[in-house]
Amino acid sequence: MIRFLNQSELKETYSSSKDIEIDAKHLTVIPALIDPHVHFRTPGENHKEDWAFASRAAIAGGVTTVFDMPNNAPPCISKSSLLEKKKLINEQLNLSQIPLRYHLFFGAEENHLDEIYKVHPEIIGIKIYLASTTGNLLIKDPHALERLFKISEELDVSLSFHAENEPLLKKQSSIHPYPKVEDHPTMRPREGAVMTTSHLIGLASKYRKSRIHILHVGTKEELPLIKQAKKEGLHVYAETTPNHLFLNSSDYSEHKTYMQMNPPIRDSEDQMALWEALKDGTIDWIGTDHAPHTRAEKEKPYPSSPSGIPGVETLLPLLLNAVHEKKISLKKVIELTHTNIVKIFKLNSNKDLVLVDLNLSREVKNEFLKTKCGWSPYNGWELRGWPVYTILKDQVYRCQNLENLSL
Ligand code: DOR
Ligand code: ZN
Repeated sequence: MIRFLNQSELKETYSSSKDIEIDAKHLTVIPALIDPHVHFRTPGENHKEDWAFASRAAIAGGVTTVFDMPNNAPPCISKSSLLEKKKLINEQLNLSQIPLRYHLFFGAEENHLDEIYKVHPEIIGIKIYLASTTGNLLIKDPHALERLFKISEELDVSLSFHAENEPLLKKQSSIHPYPKVEDHPTMRPREGAVMTTSHLIGLASKYRKSRIHILHVGTKEELPLIKQAKKEGLHVYAETTPNHLFLNSSDYSEHKTYMQMNPPIRDSEDQMALWEALKDGTIDWIGTDHAPHTRAEKEKPYPSSPSGIPGVETLLPLLLNAVHEKKISLKKVIELTHTNIVKIFKLNSNKDLVLVDLNLSREVKNEFLKTKCGWSPYNGWELRGWPVYTILKDQVYRCQNLENLSL
C-alpha cells in the first residue's frame, strides 16, 4: 500500500506490492494536467517521437491526458486511418507500460469531409489548417470551410484552427527569397493571423451554434477580437502555448531554428499581452503544441528547417516557476491546464493527480528529457517548482525516474 503522510488533501491510499509511506508535507496536490495539443508523430514520423517515449515525457511533466494532432504521414483524415492510428498508439503505449489517456483530432481535408460523419463520436474535434505547416493538411476552398461550420452545428463537434493566411505566406516567400530565422515572424506575418481569426469569428457569428477554437494564439491583435466574440456569446475559445508565453523575438539570436514554430513566436509586446489574456479569461487554456523534430532536421538552414518545439515535460515546471515569480496564480494554472479544458471539451472527470514541490529548484537539462528528440529550448533554465509524483489511473509514478511505485 502507498500512503501519503502529512497531506490533508490526499487521504487516499494506493495499492502496491510494497508498503510505502511518502512524507508529502512539502508537496501540493493539483489535478493532473491535460495537454490538448500534442504531435506524437504516429504514424509515419517515429524517428522524431513515438508514444513510448512521449508517454514517459508526459508523466514526467505531470500530464496524464493528451489530445494528438492529425498531421501525420499519412494524415488522419479517414475512418480507416483513425483506427490504424489508434492501433499503433496502443502498441507503443504497451511498450512504455504507461496507460496515458488520449484523444485524437481528426484532420479536415477537402475531399474527405464526409468521413467526419463516420468518426465524430470517436474524435475530440476537427483540426483545420488554414496555412501550410508540418505535413500536407490544408483547407483552401472557402466553401469547404463553410461546410465545416455547418458540420460543427449539425454534429456538435468543435473546430480547432491553425489560423494563419496561406496567400500571405506565399507572398512573403516571393518577396524574401533568402530569409534568416530571425525573419520567421515576417515570413508568416501577424496580419495573416489577425485576418484569419477575424474571418473565423465572423463565421462563428453566422453559424452561431458552431464551436471554434483558435489554437496557439500569438499576436496581441487577435486578443481583443476573441474577447469581443466571447462578449457576444459566441462559442469562441482560445489557446496559447508555453513558447509564446516564455520566449519572444529577441530570443531568435540565441535559439535560432530551435525556436522556430508556426504560428511564430513574436514580440515582447505580444508576449505581455498573452499573459494579460490568461488573467482576464480571453485565453481559455495552454496547450504545449509538443512538436518534436530531430536535431539534424532543426540544424538545416532556414527555411528548410521544420517548425515545431517539444514541450510536454517542461510545461508544468515553467508554469510553477511563473507562480513563484508571481506572474500567475496556482489557481489560474489549474484552470488553464485542467478545469477549463474539461469543461470546454466536455471530458469525463477522473482522479488523476500531480504532487508538486513548489520550492524545488532544478535546471532543465536536455540529457534528462524523456522526449525522443532529446532537446528543449529551455535547456539550462533554472526553474523553481517541479512535479514529484504523477498519479495516473491509480498508479503512482515518481516523475524523475518514472518508477511505477504501484507495481
Ligand atoms: O510549429 C509547428 N509544428 N506548427 C504546426 O502547426 C505543426 C507543428 C508540427 O507538427 O511540427
Ligand atoms: Zn500543433
